[in-house]
Amino acid sequence: MKTIILFYSRSRKTALVAKILAKEVNGDTQEIIDLNDRQGPLNYLKASMDAFRENKTLINPATVDLTNYDLIYLGSPTWAGKPAPAIITLIDHCNFIGKDVILFATMGGSGGQKVIERMKEKIEPRGGRMIKSFLVKTGGKKMEELVEDVKEIVRDEDLPIYGI
Ligand SMILES: Cc1cc2nc3c(=O)[nH]c(=O)nc-3n(C[C@H](O)[C@H](O)[C@H](O)COP(=O)(O)O)c2cc1C
Repeated sequence: MKTIILFYSRSRKTALVAKILAKEVNGDTQEIIDLNDRQGPLNYLKASMDAFRENKTLINPATVDLTNYDLIYLGSPTWAGKPAPAIITLIDHCNFIGKDVILFATMGGSGGQKVIERMKEKIEPRGGRMIKSFLVKTGGKKMEELVEDVKEIVRDEDLPIYGI
């Protein structure tokens, strides 16, 4: 089974989760870049508003060809209790027909479950089947703690068996 991990990351935490996952489950990774500048305090407000309203954004790559993959991990940070606009946009540009999907959300403190639910709601009509999901709390954690947390999730959730 071929696995790919798709993710968006503004401040590199979801990117770190994706990197560890890639190693642990032997998957490829594809980062989705938001072409709108999301850095800085002013952009933070706009980012929250865009996420809350589910405004689309410009992303690179604009789509990902999933034909050669059986299992897709899709990860987003939590923004105002919603997936990041880059992920909302990506989902609408991808064909998930016949794909197993594992969803994950990182969050400072709370709201990640709503992110998972929203991604699931959007992926199912596009043919994907969510087989699992998990949350990673990143608030106040050092890099090393985050790495350990993700490795523990991989073990507890038996993630490597899904890619076999
Ligand atoms: C615009 C914005 C909105 C956010 N909203 C939430 C939120 O509603 N709940 C929460 O727990 N964390 C929130 N966060 C924190 C991020 O979800 C958290 O730090 C995440 O792990 C960052 O991932 P990244 O480093 O991959 O961008 C928000 C961060 C940003 C930039």
